[in-house]
Amino acid sequence: MSEAILLVGGKGTRLRPLTTHTPKPLLRVAGVPLMTHQLARAAAAGVTRVVLATSYLADLFREEYGDGSALGLEVVHAAEEEPLGTGGAIRNAAEHLTCGPDEPVLVFNGDILSGLDIAGLRAGHQASGADVTLHLIRVPDPRAFGLVPTDADGRVLAFLEKPQTPEEIVTDQVNAGCYVFTRRTIDTIMPGRVVSVERETFPDLLGAGALLRGVIDTSYWLDLGTPAAFVKGSADLVRGLVDSPALPGEPGRALVLPGAVVDPQAVLSAGTVVCEDAVVEAGAVVEGSVVLSGARIATGALVHRSVVGREACIGRGSTVVEAVVGDRAEVGPDNQLPPSLRLDCGVRLPAQAVRTSAPVAV
Ligand code: GTP
Repeated sequence: MSEAILLVGGKGTRLRPLTTHTPKPLLRVAGVPLMTHQLARAAAAGVTRVVLATSYLADLFREEYGDGSALGLEVVHAAEEEPLGTGGAIRNAAEHLTCGPDEPVLVFNGDILSGLDIAGLRAGHQASGADVTLHLIRVPDPRAFGLVPTDADGRVLAFLEKPQTPEEIVTDQVNAGCYVFTRRTIDTIMPGRVVSVERETFPDLLGAGALLRGVIDTSYWLDLGTPAAFVKGSADLVRGLVDSPALPGEPGRALVLPGAVVDPQAVLSAGTVVCEDAVVEAGAVVEGSVVLSGARIATGALVHRSVVGREACIGRGSTVVEAVVGDRAEVGPDNQLPPSLRLDCGVRLPAQAVRTSAPVAV
């Protein structure tokens, strides 16, 4: 028996309008919900029981996973009436753990795609006797992140706010959103209130003399919190750049799910996925994109590194680049949308309404 807590209660505001009706961890990435990839990897690493820390649209997680038996896991749902923040959510979910105080508990964010050696992280945690082990990654530009410097033995020295000056960039190591807690350490978090694990729990533990270890892992890692990262993560899975036992097919240029209809004269490339009941017509070109269930890409349309929402439509001859098209939105024929546009769910753009003059780099 090995237990985990998966944090999936966030509102996913940076991915709106995709997250208007679907929580970020349930958005389809390479054909299955993002968190199904995570659960499958956790199961492959020996995790048998997962507590889902839910809040936003919590019922949808019950509908998708129930008791977890379809994934060969025991899944328990811990819903917060009001979001408790990452630390509060861990504390709340821990009420549903069955392990003893000295056992390791894997805790991870529900929006990360990674090739991390989960079993190795847990084994290293147990061997070291640490209170918490954090997965750290090195980033080329640490300015957008809180920093986590460690000593030569991997002991965390500090949790530093985003650096404001070059002198404050003392390391390129940042928190990767996956931890192993010794169970009793979770019990030190104050119950029933909003707590940030990153900004409160970890610094408090360090201040109290706890042993926090950082483990740097150089395998694939991506936070799918933004539209650009979301389409990249999906395309990388489809192309096999990161392994997932939950990928519904073999890695390749594109993935077409059962029930989707793709005309032989359409071109799918760069890790595009076309979900159930979606239609891609003749002459359409879809590159590195996510086409969700029931969407339609009409003849001659070009879709580049975009997400096309459920039952949304891209009209004949229209171009969308790095766009997010909400569920049931319609782009009429012969539109050329400016890059990075987001169309709200259900919005209808008439034919030839937008003919951007900006060059489209595809
Ligand atoms: P943005 O609103 O776009 O920042 O996304 P988010 O709401 O997912 O926030 P963020 O990316 O910072 O969250 C990191 C992880 O923690 C995600 O897996 C969230 O689902 C989860 N999370 C954030 N806040 C809460 C919370 O209050 N409760 C629970 N259960 N999970 C949370």
